Amino acid sequence: MSTQTKCLVTGAAGFIGSHLIDRLLERGATVVGIDNLKLGRRENLAQALTNPRCKFIQADVNDVPALSRLVAEESQAAPFDMAWHLAANSDIRAGVADPDVDLRDTFLTTFNLLKVLREHRILQVAFASTSAIYGVQPTALVENMGPLFPISNYGAMKLASEAALSAAQESFLKRVWIFRFPNVVGSRATHGAIYDFALKLKKNPAELEVLGDGSQEKPYFHVADLIDAMLFIVDQAREPLNFFNIGTVGSITTVRYLAETVVKCMSPDASIRYTGGSRGWVGDVPKFSYSVEKLKQLGWSPRLTSNQAVDRAVAEIVAEVSRQK
Ligand SMILES: NC(=O)c1ccc[n+]([C@@H]2O[C@H](COP(=O)([O-])OP(=O)(O)OC[C@H]3O[C@@H](n4cnc5c(N)ncnc54)[C@H](O)[C@@H]3O)[C@@H](O)[C@H]2O)c1
Repeated sequence: MSTQTKCLVTGAAGFIGSHLIDRLLERGATVVGIDNLKLGRRENLAQALTNPRCKFIQADVNDVPALSRLVAEESQAAPFDMAWHLAANSDIRAGVADPDVDLRDTFLTTFNLLKVLREHRILQVAFASTSAIYGVQPTALVENMGPLFPISNYGAMKLASEAALSAAQESFLKRVWIFRFPNVVGSRATHGAIYDFALKLKKNPAELEVLGDGSQEKPYFHVADLIDAMLFIVDQAREPLNFFNIGTVGSITTVRYLAETVVKCMSPDASIRYTGGSRGWVGDVPKFSYSVEKLKQLGWSPRLTSNQAVDRAVAEIVAEVSRQK
C-alpha cells in the first residue's frame, strides 16, 4: 500500500476502525471515515481528527443514495484507492436475540457498500471477517476447511459477506483482502468479555458474575498486533482474492484467566461467581484454536501471546472504564 493511499473506512468510530485510522494516518494515507455511531464513539477519533488528512462523516452504510453522494463528493479532489469495510454489528448476542440486526448491519452493509464501490470504481477492498464463520470445529481452524456451518447469525452473515465479496471480485473488484479475526482486545473496546467484566465490577466491586463455568477458551489478540497484520497482508498479499486467519500461534486463554485478571487489576477483593455450563450464551463457540500457518508463510508473526494480549488489554480497558462517568 502506498503511503499516499486514499482510503474509505466504514466502522470508523468503532474499536478496531479507530485504531486502523490512527495507523493509516501515521503511514501518510488520507482517510474518510464513516460510521452511524450506533456502537462506535466519536471520541475514539479525537486524535485522528486533529490530522488534516482525516475526515469523519456520520452516515449509515445501508443508506445507499447518501453513501453514494458522499463518496462522489469526497472523490472530487482525488479518487479513493481502496475501502476498509469494518462496519458491522459487533454485539453477537444482540444478533441472536434479533436476527434482523445481523442481516442489516453485518450482511447488508457489505452488499450495499459493494454497490457503491462498483458505481464509483473503487476496486480494492479489505474486509473484517471473523473466526465465527467456522462454527464449532474439532480441530484448529484452517482457512481452507469446510463445509462451514456458523452457529450465530453474526457468523452466518459474515460468511455471506465473504461470499458476496468473492462474487464481486469475479465481476468488478481488482483485489479483495479478507481477515478472519479471533477475539480482539485493547483500548477503546466497545464490547467483549473484558469490557463487560470491567463494567460489572465498576457497578458492583464486591462480586463479578461470569456466564458459564470459566472453562471456555479462545485465542485473544491485541488490537496493535491486529492492525500490524492487516497492513502487512494488504502490502504483501497480491492475489485477486486473499483470505487469512489473523491470530496467535497455538496460544489460548480461558475465561477464568480473563475474569481473574480483571478482578486483580480493578477490585482485588471481589469474589467471582460462575453461572455454570460450558457455554456462555447461545451462539458462543466455547473452545477454538487457530492455525495461522498461512500468515506465517506470508512472513508475519504476532509479538504477544494470547495471555500477554489479555494482560495488556485489561490494564488499558480498566483504566478507561474507571475514567468513564
Ligand atoms: N472485536 C473483535 O473481537 C472482532 C472479532 C472478529 C471480527 N470483528 C469485526 O471487526 C470489525 C470491527 O469490530 P469492532 O470490534 O471494532 O466493533 P465496533 O462495534 O467497535 O465497530 C463497528 C462499527 O461499525 C459501526 N456500524 C455498524 N453498523 C453500521 C452501519 N449500518 N453503518 C455505519 N456504521 C455502522 C458501529 O457504530 C461501530 O462503530 C467488525 O466488522 C467486526 O465484526 C471484530
